Formats: sequence, C-alpha cells, structure tokens
Amino acid sequence: MKEKITSRVLESCLENLRQYALDGKVADYIPALSKQNPEDLAVSIYYLDGDCIHAGKVEKCFTLQSISKVIALALALIDNGEEFVFGKVGMEPSGDPFHSIYRLEQNEPSRPLNPMINAGALAVSNMIKGSTPDERVGRLLSFIHEMTGDQSIEVNQEVALSEFKSAFLNRSLLYYLKQDGVIIGSVEETLDVYTKQCSIDVNVQQLSKIGALFANEGKNLQSGRQIIPKHFARICKTFMVTCGMYDASGSFAIKVGIPAKSGVSGGVVASLNSFGGIAVYGPSLDEKGNSVVGLKLLEVLSNRYDLSIF
Ligand code: DON
Repeated sequence: MKEKITSRVLESCLENLRQYALDGKVADYIPALSKQNPEDLAVSIYYLDGDCIHAGKVEKCFTLQSISKVIALALALIDNGEEFVFGKVGMEPSGDPFHSIYRLEQNEPSRPLNPMINAGALAVSNMIKGSTPDERVGRLLSFIHEMTGDQSIEVNQEVALSEFKSAFLNRSLLYYLKQDGVIIGSVEETLDVYTKQCSIDVNVQQLSKIGALFANEGKNLQSGRQIIPKHFARICKTFMVTCGMYDASGSFAIKVGIPAKSGVSGGVVASLNSFGGIAVYGPSLDEKGNSVVGLKLLEVLSNRYDLSIF
C-alpha cells in the first residue's frame, strides 16, 4: 500500500499550480464548453478503503467528454464480449490527435486504431445495446450510477445539444465507419448517443470514485459488487496507459506513469491499483487537448509519492 496523501498536501499542490490555470486554452469547438472558467480548479482522491480527500471547487460539475470513452468501452465489452469489440476496433496507439480522420482513409477497410480516439469511441458507442438512443444512454447512466452509487449523475443537455449541432468532424468519421460496416444503423442516432455520453456531468469526487472502481479491479468500493469483470477493467486501464492522452501518452507515461484518461472539458481521471482513483479538473487545455493543471498536478503527486507503475 502506498503512503496516503493528506488533504493539506493536496490543497497546497493545487495552490502552487494555480499560476498555470491561464496557460493553454479552454475548448471552444464545442460552443457550450467555452463558458467554463479556467480558474475553476479541483482535485479529489478516492482511496480503496473508502477515504476521500479533495481540494478546490469540489462541487463544480464538468462533462466527462473523452473520459466517457473508457466507461463506454467497459459497457460495450460487457454487452458484446472482447472478440466482437476488437473485431471492429484495434488495440494500438495512434500517435495522432483525437479527432484525426486520415488513418481511416489509409486503412482498407476502415478500422479505428483504438477505442480512445474519436473514430474508435464512436464505433464503441454504436455497440452499446438498446433499441433507441435514449435506452442506450440510459443504460450507460445506470452503469455509472452502479459504479458510483450516486443516482444524481445526469446528462448535461445544453452541452450535449451544443456538441450535436457542431459535430461535423465526428459525423464525417461516422460516415466513414458506416461505409465500411464498422457501425450499423443510423449515423445521427449514434452521434446522439456519443454526444450525450460525452456530456455526462460529474464533479471531481464522483470521478475519483470511478477511477477507484477501476483500481479496485471493477468492484464497487462500498458493496464489493463486481460491476466490471476484472479482465475488462484491466483492458480499460491498459488503454489509459497506451492511449489515454492521445499523442501525449508516451510523455505522460514517462513523466507520470499512472493509467489516466483526459477529456476536453478539462477533467482527468487516474486509476492506480492498490491505491485508488484521482480526479483533477482544470479547463485550460494544452495543444493536445489535455488539462494543463491536471497533467501538472498528477506529475507532482506521482514524483513526490512515487506513484508510477513503471
Ligand atoms: O468528440 C469530441 O470531440 C468530444 N466530445 C470529446 C473529445 C475529447 O474529450 C478529447 N479529449 N481530450
């Protein structure tokens, strides 16, 4: 068991990093995200024994965005099994930006390289079972409620609609995937599921609990119920290491060395076996679309407490 970080240390780390809150840029390609305040910062750690510490704006909600890709992958694996999922989406890091389309054109037939880039995540959303988009999103929400024990987690409809109306690149990716039979059914309905999944609102405390569930081999911390089979939880954490920060995954692995996933709202979730979950929120993003403060904070904690898995 690693040494526990105290809330006082967490508070001072966050305060020391406040100077970077305005470095980078808040995402605005999804118009509703541009309203976020780059100075709203928060961090939470959920330990496997149920202790939770936090600092900053703990109550502040933000949308999961790409962090949802890990959760959707877990549900798609439960719904369809490993063979089906990886028959359609690869397991290799891309080294490309998250919205990149050019590898779909290069590969014949198109096959997304992994489930963390948008092309792969859209294919995964298409695999979630349900007869309507609402039923699929409802199942994903129930899955998150089971993971956290918190029924209050909901879709932020304003952000979902804002993304749905402006998601021209994701529509293009979906048409490529549709052409080659990677997705079945309607492009618009799949985009509806994906944009709502990305718009699920959480605060850092709820997110750190999700990170802790992955660290706890898929078991709910309180009830001990196996929400995600251990093997699937392990697959998800492996993708966090190899693809969680897109084309910054290599440097993140060297500097931080903790399985983690970022989202363009500025959230980052990290999951460390025998330790727990760490969630950080800092809306200002670097040029790769990862939270500036989020990555710096994880680096500071990893170095100070020797958290790297490597
Ligand atoms: O599809 C999109 O562009 C967004 N809903 C999610 C992208 C994202 O979070 C990338 N991560 N840093």
